[in-house]
Amino acid sequence: MSDMLAVVLIAAAWSGVAGAVCAAVAWRVRSASIRVALGLIAAAAIAGVLSGVVGTSRAMFLSDHDLRVVMVVCAVSGVVSIGCAALMSRVVVRAAQGLRELAGKIGGRTTVAALADGPRELRDVGTELARSHERLHAAQQREQHLERSRRELVAWVSHDLRTPLAGLRAMAEALVDGLAEDPRRYHQRMLAEVDRMTVMVDDLFELSRIHAGTLQLSLQPVGVRDLVSESIAGATEIARSRNVTVDGCIDAGLEVKADPGALSRVVGNLVMNAIRHTPDDGVVVVSGHHAGAMVELSVTDACGGIDDADVDRVFDVAWRGDQARTPEPYAGAGLGLAIVKGLVEAHRGTVAVANHLGGCRFVVRLPAQP
Ligand SMILES: Nc1ncnc2c1ncn2[C@@H]1O[C@H](COP(=O)(O)OP(=O)(O)O)[C@@H](O)[C@H]1O
Ligand SMILES: [Mg+2]
Repeated sequence: MSDMLAVVLIAAAWSGVAGAVCAAVAWRVRSASIRVALGLIAAAAIAGVLSGVVGTSRAMFLSDHDLRVVMVVCAVSGVVSIGCAALMSRVVVRAAQGLRELAGKIGGRTTVAALADGPRELRDVGTELARSHERLHAAQQREQHLERSRRELVAWVSHDLRTPLAGLRAMAEALVDGLAEDPRRYHQRMLAEVDRMTVMVDDLFELSRIHAGTLQLSLQPVGVRDLVSESIAGATEIARSRNVTVDGCIDAGLEVKADPGALSRVVGNLVMNAIRHTPDDGVVVVSGHHAGAMVELSVTDACGGIDDADVDRVFDVAWRGDQARTPEPYAGAGLGLAIVKGLVEAHRGTVAVANHLGGCRFVVRLPAQP
């Protein structure tokens, strides 16, 4: 066997034994901290090299003095190398500690920032954790907002249902006791109250379907001009009674991909609101045109503008501003715009409101029919 082959075999054997011992120790303490794991990896590499050197030196029949020198050199290098490895492993250990702290903050109230330094994979995990925190935070806020509006809805709707019920009861009692001077008028008012309550219950049902996600839309090409004409026609009675003019200016051939029933409810609610909030003899304008891949439908009224503080609240469930709660004939329970928003978003569209020249403008954007 040539000398070189012998050297190779001896070095491989010593290094192999050292590596195997380190691997066995690493396996035994595999649940220990990342610091221990990194230390063992460094130790395996260093011990492998050093034991190879020591083993071959012994086999080379060096003088005792030379062998001692080699041993001292190996011992010193080993200690220095282990020290350097421990220093370098601090980056990974610090990043792992950073990740643990970051994970502990998820879902809490403090802000969570991704890791500033450390190995790329760990920084990526940190970035993902920070994103999850943001998503969770947004979901919590949505949930709280929904919960608050649900509570308000129950309180307000029970008030809104109790008032007409009390009125109905009083009128029915008057009729039963023969105290009603004009029974026909009483019957008419009772009918109007029942109609109002029916609309409110319908709205509640629609809203609960939207919130429960059980809304079934049958999307199809819908001609905007016809749909708006029908909605305006449905509101002519109230518009005429107040002498409000409703103008439509819709681009010819404008089509959206929508559920016709849902869309006409959206336009109907917006037009009805606009007429109700426009003073007598005012003008409401409904317009529609293409805006890129979307269709923009807007309803502009002359309500005098919505307070800046209220602009964000008009779409909240049951929000009705500071209007008196014993309402005018066409007032609802504050559900109309929440339904509009729910239906528009179910179409992957958006709705927004902004003040515009002594009034306000509701803008609905829906995907155009390609
Ligand atoms: N076109 C509008 N102009 C001014 N204010 C509006 C308009 N539409 C809605 N609002 C305000 O937003 C509130 C909520 O509207 P909505 O959800 O339709 O409920 P409701 O019509 O039952 O009051 C209204 O009570 C009103 O204060
Ligand atoms: Mg309304």
